[in-house]
Amino acid sequence: LPDPDPEQATATAGGATPHTVDRGITIVIPTFNEAANIDELLSQISAALPQGHDASVLFVDDSTDDTPEGIRKAAARIPLPVSLYHRPDRVGGLGGAVMEGIMRTESRWIVVMDADLQHPPSLLPDLIDRGERSGAELVVASRYTDGGSRRGLDSWYRVLVSGASTSLAKALFPRALRGVSDPMSGYFAIRREVVDQAQHADALRPLGYKILLELIVRCRPRMITELAYEFHARHAGESKSTFGEGLRFLHHLFRLRSSGAVGRAIAFGLIGLSGFLPNLAVLWALTHYTALHYTAANAIAHQFGMAWNFVLIDKVLYRGRRRLNARTRFVGFAALANADLVIVLPVTVLLVSGLGLSPVPATATTLVLVFALRFLCVDRFLYRR
Ligand code: GDD
Ligand code: MN
Repeated sequence: LPDPDPEQATATAGGATPHTVDRGITIVIPTFNEAANIDELLSQISAALPQGHDASVLFVDDSTDDTPEGIRKAAARIPLPVSLYHRPDRVGGLGGAVMEGIMRTESRWIVVMDADLQHPPSLLPDLIDRGERSGAELVVASRYTDGGSRRGLDSWYRVLVSGASTSLAKALFPRALRGVSDPMSGYFAIRREVVDQAQHADALRPLGYKILLELIVRCRPRMITELAYEFHARHAGESKSTFGEGLRFLHHLFRLRSSGAVGRAIAFGLIGLSGFLPNLAVLWALTHYTALHYTAANAIAHQFGMAWNFVLIDKVLYRGRRRLNARTRFVGFAALANADLVIVLPVTVLLVSGLGLSPVPATATTLVLVFALRFLCVDRFLYRR
């Protein structure tokens, strides 16, 4: 954990224990110019969590107004330990602030919530209880599950954007978001272990507002449960989300979806090329030392190239994504590699006679298509995430 730098980490009153000690719950609250909300927020949090709840609050602040002052004053009034980390730069905006906060905690549960009271603090005990009781690794406070409400979305425009982005995210990540009705929620409780897993991989780089989506897609919590709540109207001040934030969301979705695919496709292609070596060597040996017909020798040599590729892809490239058993992976891979052989000729002929391409560009096009198709099948089905 980073040492508290007196310039930045101004640990404030309440209890004497800093947030770095292994406590039960840390409530991480990102703030950007929320001076008018802090007092009410901390009062409500403190009222919701009776003493003995082993909770503390950590503000990650990027404000340019007197929010830090407000936090110090309010913290002195309540029994809960409150810490404040004022960031020198606003790196990563809301998402960056929340990640910094998460990384500065060591508690078993991390709760993330907004400072503007759109997320009712009265839900806090239920959020934790639900997690402890159900054994879930992530508890999402949801506006869209039975009993929840998005009443506080103040304009038809925000209702529309919220609905559309939720549907889009669910369509793009059907497996990861199964059972999650509100993946855009900014109010949730997550177990330390889940986040740790990703921190070590240095994998969490949320873009913009959608921290929860990033955590679910990248950390894949084993069990997720939801708790209904009513999204209130803002207590004071105004929302910091902008149209640019919407664009950032699309970029974020794209990055999460394609995460590393270009790199994998290149590695996949290089491995494929390296397969020509064993392929040609075996072909040479068979045509020199046996009486096999050229086409038979070719087909056999192809299997050696395929096996070489399989070993590299299975043991190196997709080592971390082996979900199916070894036989299925091998049979699937072999089937795809041999389907190539069968497909190349008819598709090339089709391109030549159907589209009038000359043989060389037609063959090149076919090879690219076949490669892309094989990569997609391997990446999406044989070694799915
Ligand atoms: N540290 C920091 N830095 N905090 C920020 C920043 C930033 O750049 N931008 C916003 N915040 C803080 C705000 O001060 C507030 O506490 C919280 O993040 C949410 O910001 P709002 O501006 O109130 O966001 P919103 O109400 O539009 O969006 C909320 O609801 C959405 C669901 O409708 C957020 O919780 C979203 O994550 C959520 O998807
Ligand atoms: Mn808000």
